[in-house]
Amino acid sequence: MRKKIVAGNWKMNTTVTEGVELAKSIVAKVNEIPVGVSLVVAPPFTHLTSVAEVLKGSPVALSAQNCADQPKGAYTGEVSAEMLKDAGCSYTILGHSERREYYGETSEKLVKKMALAFENGLKVIFCVGEKLAERQEGQHFDVVSAQISEVLFGLTPAQMAKVVIAYEPVWAIGTGVTATSEQAQEIHAFIRKTLAAHFGEDVAAKTTILYGGSCKPSNAQELFACPDIDGGLIGGASLKADDFIAIAKS
Ligand code: 13P
Repeated sequence: MRKKIVAGNWKMNTTVTEGVELAKSIVAKVNEIPVGVSLVVAPPFTHLTSVAEVLKGSPVALSAQNCADQPKGAYTGEVSAEMLKDAGCSYTILGHSERREYYGETSEKLVKKMALAFENGLKVIFCVGEKLAERQEGQHFDVVSAQISEVLFGLTPAQMAKVVIAYEPVWAIGTGVTATSEQAQEIHAFIRKTLAAHFGEDVAAKTTILYGGSCKPSNAQELFACPDIDGGLIGGASLKADDFIAIAKS
């Protein structure tokens, strides 16, 4: 009843040439992917138009990794939602923990970015997740609940239909330490319950919730078998077409 998605967040990796090659290798294997699973790739900004060209006519969707919190104008170094749409994106990632941590991404900014994404016809992969100390102190439910309520609770149900949530515990990102399937399922179920309490059961049941953090071919199957895990947001393992496709087949 809800969409299953495997998305590759390339982060600040690959040159344009390498990115185009990677996209070609993914497209070449896309017929191996089970029906009902959608693939998304999120290359760096400089790669978007070239990768869009490669993806044309394939079912693989293009995403940006971020967008500006202003529509246009004198904001040096920023890329607007309108530009992303024009470059061929159908999604943008917002609220990745690396942006929250290193670039001062606050919930207030994310509300603005999300509104601009919707205005320009982009869907949003919205990331949430707690840091190691927060989990050790048992605050992970409160942290994730605040991240969700501050940014998503102002949305209409129609806008929520354009949001994919990615739960990415910061302690699992790029560390090789994956959340156990029990830990991930527990918080995914909590996220769905949080959505149900605000938006109702129907919106909650239809929202795709991805897991991210050291997800790889060897652990994807166990994670994706959990009832509230609807796919993954993949970092490191999305840079190798074979691994990315193997994860999507899980
Ligand atoms: P890794 O898969 O490299 O841990 O990264 C996860 C992530 O941050 C995806 O957005």
